[in-house]
Parts: sequence; C-alpha cells; structure tokens
Amino acid sequence: MKDATPQAVYLSDYTPPAYLVDKVSLVFRLDPAATRVLSRIEFRPNPDAAPGQPLVLDGEKLKLIGAAVAGEAVKDGDHTQTDTGLTIPASRLPAEPFVFEAEVEIDPSANTALEGLYMSNGMYCTQCEAEGFRRITYYPDRPDVMAPFHVRIESDEKVLLSNGNPGASGDGFAEWTDPWPKPAYLFALVAGDLVAAKDSFTTRSGTPVELGIWVRPGDEGKCDYALDALKRSMKWDEDVYGREYDLDVFNIVAVDDFNMGAMENKGLNVFNSKYVLASPSTATDMDYENIEGIIAHEYFHNWTGNRITCRDWFQLCLKEGLTVFRDQQFSGDMRSKPVKRIQDVLQLRARQFREDNGPLAHPVRPSSYIEINNFYTATVYEKGAEVIGMLKRLVGDDGYAKALDLYFDRHDGDAATIEDWLAVFQDATGRDLSQFGRWYTQAGTPRVTVTDDFKDGTYTLHLKQETPATPGQPDKQPQVIPVAVGLLNPNGDEVQPTTVLELTEEQQSFTFDGLSAKPVPSILRGFSAPVILDRKTTTEERAFLLAHDTDPFNKWEAGRALAKDVLARMVTDRAAPGPAYLDALERVARDETLDPAFRALALRLPSEDDMAQTLFDAGVTPDPLAIHDAREKLMLALAEHLSSVLPGLYEDMSIPGPYSPDSKAAGCRALRQTALAMMARLDDGKTAAKQFRDADNMTEQLGALGVLLSVGHGQEELGTFYRQWQLDRLVIDKWFALQSSLAAPGKAADTTLALTRHPDFDWKNPNRFRSVIGGLATNAAGFHDPSGASYELVADWLIRLDPMNPQTTARMTTMFETWNRYDADRQALMRGALQRIAATRGLSRDTTEMVGRILG
Ligand code: PHE
Ligand code: ZN
Repeated sequence: MKDATPQAVYLSDYTPPAYLVDKVSLVFRLDPAATRVLSRIEFRPNPDAAPGQPLVLDGEKLKLIGAAVAGEAVKDGDHTQTDTGLTIPASRLPAEPFVFEAEVEIDPSANTALEGLYMSNGMYCTQCEAEGFRRITYYPDRPDVMAPFHVRIESDEKVLLSNGNPGASGDGFAEWTDPWPKPAYLFALVAGDLVAAKDSFTTRSGTPVELGIWVRPGDEGKCDYALDALKRSMKWDEDVYGREYDLDVFNIVAVDDFNMGAMENKGLNVFNSKYVLASPSTATDMDYENIEGIIAHEYFHNWTGNRITCRDWFQLCLKEGLTVFRDQQFSGDMRSKPVKRIQDVLQLRARQFREDNGPLAHPVRPSSYIEINNFYTATVYEKGAEVIGMLKRLVGDDGYAKALDLYFDRHDGDAATIEDWLAVFQDATGRDLSQFGRWYTQAGTPRVTVTDDFKDGTYTLHLKQETPATPGQPDKQPQVIPVAVGLLNPNGDEVQPTTVLELTEEQQSFTFDGLSAKPVPSILRGFSAPVILDRKTTTEERAFLLAHDTDPFNKWEAGRALAKDVLARMVTDRAAPGPAYLDALERVARDETLDPAFRALALRLPSEDDMAQTLFDAGVTPDPLAIHDAREKLMLALAEHLSSVLPGLYEDMSIPGPYSPDSKAAGCRALRQTALAMMARLDDGKTAAKQFRDADNMTEQLGALGVLLSVGHGQEELGTFYRQWQLDRLVIDKWFALQSSLAAPGKAADTTLALTRHPDFDWKNPNRFRSVIGGLATNAAGFHDPSGASYELVADWLIRLDPMNPQTTARMTTMFETWNRYDADRQALMRGALQRIAATRGLSRDTTEMVGRILG
C-alpha cells in the first residue's frame, strides 16, 4: 500500500542521528529471488544527540528473519516493525556501544524500480543513492551516518565485487574491505558473468592503483576510451586540485538497466552502459564526449561527495554542483574551453532555465521535499555548478584554490553543509558571503535589464535586477551578480578588456571614463552569471559583436541572439530573414581562423523549445507548429544563401584516415554535419544518402540518417540501419530515438505509437523507454500536436511505467513542465493528461509529488 498523503521532509527539522556507527559487516548469500543479507552493525550513542533515544532503522521491502541486540535475540514486542523500518525502544538498548545483528531476505528479481539490489540481464547490481540501501537491510539510511564496511559475498557468480580493497576470496565467495567511513548511499555490490578491461595508474606519491572496467563478455573491446578518460581524470585531479586516489583498486561496472547516468559508489562506480561502452562504429562523437565527462564526474566524486559528503539530502548541491563544476573544468581543459562553455550554457538554458521558469522551480538548496529522488535536477546540478563558477570569479583563481584547500583540510571525513562550504570561502578570502548565499536559497532566474548612455567621454551602464516569483517564494531579495563586461570601439578594437561588475543592489550604475567614442558593450562575457540579459539593441550591433567580440562566448551569443530575433520576427510577422543575419553567418562560415567546432555551434539554429521559451519570455504565446515552420524556412534561406560555401566546407571538413574521437576531429565532423543538414535542403538529401552508404563511423552514419529523416526521406536507410545493428542495444536506442524525435509534426504521435509496438521496444529498460517516449518530447512540434495525441500517448506510458519504475516515471513527467507557456487549448490538453496521471490508483509517491507540483 502507498501512503495516502505523502509527508514532506523539511531542512529546518534536521536533527543529528541518535546513534553513530563504528563498523558494518555484511554477508550476502545471493539468490535471484531469495537473497539473504546478514548484518552486524556496531552502534554507539551520538554524544551530540539527546541521550536515551530509540534505535530507528530504515528498511523497506525486507523480510525480517531475525535480529539481535548485544547478542540477545529481539523478540516480538521488543520492537516495532512497519513497512518503512524497525524501531527498538531505548529500554531494550544498552547505554554503552552495542552490536545490532539482523538477517533479512530480499528478492532482487522482483526489483523493477532499480533501487537497492536488483538484476540486470542476469547480473546482480545495486543502486543505493539516495535511499536504496534501506531496501537491502535495516540501517540508519542517512548520509550523516558514516562507517567503514566489510562485505562478504557468497555466490557462484564468476565475478563478485564490492567497495574498497579486495580481501580473501575463493570458491563461491569474495570479501571486500572499505577502510574509508562512508554513508550507506555509497555502498555497492555487483555479481555476475563479467570480464574486465584492465589498466593501472600510479598516483603522484607512487601508489599503484589497479583499474578495471567490468562488462559483459563481448563488450571488453569497447572500454579503451573510458579507461583512458579515467586515467586522465585521475591525473587532472592531482594536478589541478591536489587530490590523490585512496584505494588499491578502482572498478567501474557497466549495466544495461539504470535509472540515471552513473553512480560514484566508493571504489566501485556503477555506470549506465551508454556512458562506458564505445567503439568508432557504434558510438558518436557526442557519446565519446559524454563518456569522458561522466567518467570524470564520478571519479571526482571520490573527493567531492565521498571523502566529504552531505549532511542531509537538502545539501545535495554540495557534492553535485561542485562535481559538475569540476567535470566542466576538466572537459574544458581536455577540449576547447570556449566551445565547452557554450555547450554548457546551451544545456543550462534548455534544462535549467526551463525548470526555473516553470512550476517546478526550486532553490539550488531546496528547503523541503516529499521524494528526494525528484531533486536530482538541473537546478541542483547545473545551476549548482554555475553558483560555484560565480564564487570563483568573485574571489579570483587564487582565492578559489585557497578555499578549496581549506575545504578538503577542514572537512575531510565530514558530512557537511552549504554553510560549511561558504564558511571556507569566507575564512580563506575574508570576503563576506552572506548576500551571495541567496543563490542557494532563492529560486528563479534573475533578469538583468541593461541600459546605457554616453556623455563627454564617459560611458555608463545602468543595471537592474529582478527575480520573478516562484512557487512558495513570492518576494525576492537582490542577489550578487558578477557581470563580466568588455567594451569595443566602433572600429572593432577592444578599449576595455573584461572587467567584472558586481551587481548587488536592485539597481546600480557603472561608469567608464576617457573614451573617445561611444563604445559597443559586450555584456555577461563567458556567461558570468546564470541570468537572463535584457537589453534593447540593434541587428547591426549584434552583427558587429559576432564579427569583432574578443570573448568567444559573447561572439557566439551575438549570433545566437541574431538568429532568435530573425526567427521571432518570422513567427510573429511572417518577415523574411534579412541580409544582415545571412551575411553575418556567411562570414562565420567562411572564417577559417575560427575553430570548426565553434563555427558549427555558431551556424546551428536555436532549438524549437528554446524559441518557444524565448517568445514566451517576450510575452508572445508560442505556437510550436509556427516555430517549426519558421525554423525550417530559415534553414532553407540560410542554405540558399550559403549554397556556394557549403560543398567546399563539407569537403574541407572531411578527415582522412581512421576515425579518432579527439576533439579536433570531432569539431570538423560537427561542422561537416551542419553543412550536410543545410545541403540536404538543396539537394533533397543526395549527399546525406551517399554519406550514409559510405560512413565508417557512427557519428557520420547516424548524422546522415538524421538529416535524411528531417527532410522527409530515410525510410529505406532506417531498415538498413536496423538490420545492421539489431543486436547492439545502445545503437538500437539511437534508432528508436531518431524516429520519435524527428518524425514530421503531424506524424509524431503515430510514429511513436508504432515504435511502442515494435518487438524491440523493451519498455522496462529505462534507456529504451527514454529513447522512444523521451524522444517524442524533444520533437517540440510533434509533442505539442494540437490534437493532444502525443500528450495522451505519453500519459498512457507514464501510467504504465509508474508501478514498475517510479523514479524514471517521475523524472519524465517534466515533459509537461512547460504547460503554462502555451495557448488555452494546449494548456487544457496538457493539464488533462496530467490530471489523468494524478488520478491513477496507487500512483507512486515520486510521480504523485511531481504531477502535483507541475499542476500547481
Ligand atoms: N550521484 C549520481 C551522480 O551524480 C547520480 C545518481 C543519483 C545516480 C541517484 C543514481 C541515483 O553522478
Ligand atoms: Zn554527481
């Protein structure tokens, strides 16, 4: 039974645990339907908590076989057992440290939620963040209870893995010891018929570490890139943050059924196989880039997450914001910094701004939740990372380095808070961060409005900030907004190099003297703060910045803004794209001094969803079909305007020799793909069809197929592709996603429905479900079909998935989070679909919370 009224948890209710744990010993007797877990837990009263409290242990879906306190069996009446845990009254507990023992039985084969111990293709694996350990045994399942773990696995499976260093092993068993105290959410166990791709790394203090990536037999040839990314991550964390690895082994396991991207379990990361396995013929450049970034992310958690963890789940951004920031720095160092920054901002706007400007808006550090799984959001992760980027800008690189050293020194082994985090910055740099702290507590994207004037050689920028009301937060206080600014002379020379203006009041003016002419400002360089910049400007000025700005981010941003202006006018006034925009883009296309990856980004049009949000922000109700048509028309106009450049560009960007995933080659392929998409509008897909036939790598094969579909061809190629890759799950995921995401607007619901009837639509596999159903959501015009057919289809499938996998269902309800942008008819249809989900009997707590918040 599900609880009728799910209870919210509040940050303000935090109390320290009554008992701490000194040591955990676990024995697993694995069996698909009846695994026995024997636990021996050494408890001690917490000196910082009120004495004489009962022992409260979390536990869900466990069959209790027996328990004992201090060696004496706990009998009925000695304890209370509910479907969420076990409580032993203080009267039954010694005042001194004591040992609690239990034996429970669990059923991994019935675990379709993929939390706790479950089976994926016959292999045992675990997922314990955030509250999965309580489905394994009775335990104080909260991150501020940290302990060393000893684990013994008994099973005939070939490979038996857990956290820490390997201990004794033999026929049918293996033991593991993790010396580093950790919270239960970092526990992991894997058992199955696995093979490893192995390597080693020697830390800078000379300790050898054995590295292993464990996969199903047959996949061992697809681990080279992940291993290489891992070694580069280990080195980078030593070089840049001074952080060394701390165990003899580091293992990664690839699993096919996983709700998220990957998990940082101590010494035993578990990954969605999509973010590990790669070969040139099966993985795209984007896959390689994701693998590099996620391998780094999980590895970096070893210090920012594991050695220093979160006191409670409200502090999630303490580990996630910081670790995202670190993986972004890493990828910037490995590849191109400006290109990485542009990609990150594109993501931020597409996911986080969308969230922050809708019914699900919440602070980077929320103050209440019903289901914590619903708070692994773009706001906690991506905005959490932006907040750290701003801190770094404000205190400078040296200040940041000092603060981080202090953080690791002071809090190693702790379960820490955002207050602790801000305190190290205050103590290391002397800067008062009380106002800055509002970034963690206020939701919503601040809007910064800029006006300017010029008089007697003095240029003045007037900045005004305003953060809109968000659910539960009607009034906002001004935040500290670092606005990086540079000034250009009308001849294109930079007269004021980048300087950071600190906007702390609601309104503030900043002056620049001694100028001979009114400059062109380049504002919010590098996207120095996660805000919406509002400034009336001209097409000419944007084209000027696209041509002359020395800041690569703002150079790109100028082109982006141009495209958005043009598209907006096409949608609202049916205006044709003017020469200013087309000529400016032609200059970019022809400029060989620019990095191809940058050129690809600059030539790519804003997404339909981005345009919908942009129009909505400007007070226009977006019509998804009109946006789709306008974008197609602009693409054609651009293709025609560039018709003399494209074939040459397409040829120049072809790289001879075997495929290499390096960022330079990937950048050339990205530009080539952009050219191909435009050429298809002129040659009816001929070049794309040829590329599809000739491709020797997945980037070019899939790229060609996508282009063919988007110009209404590719049916035959879809068949060829399917037959070629039928046995490769990850490639077939792409095949599914391409079809639902690129179906013509009027055909999207039917196409997706047909895909759900395909024999390979294994809807219980989260990757496959996300490919098909999530693919439809990225097809903005198709998803928002005026008939409501797509909304209904999605609702049907979410209702079906919910009892199996609440976590993935709840996450995917965000497909509906933008309902308030649209016209009354669409709003009614979307709300109707949501209400139908909400009315489903026995709906999970996860999905109930999400749907309730989205409906408002
Ligand atoms: N902590 C994981 C990460 O960032 C994400 C995750 C959360 C995975 C919950 C599984 C479950 O990298
Ligand atoms: Zn993370």
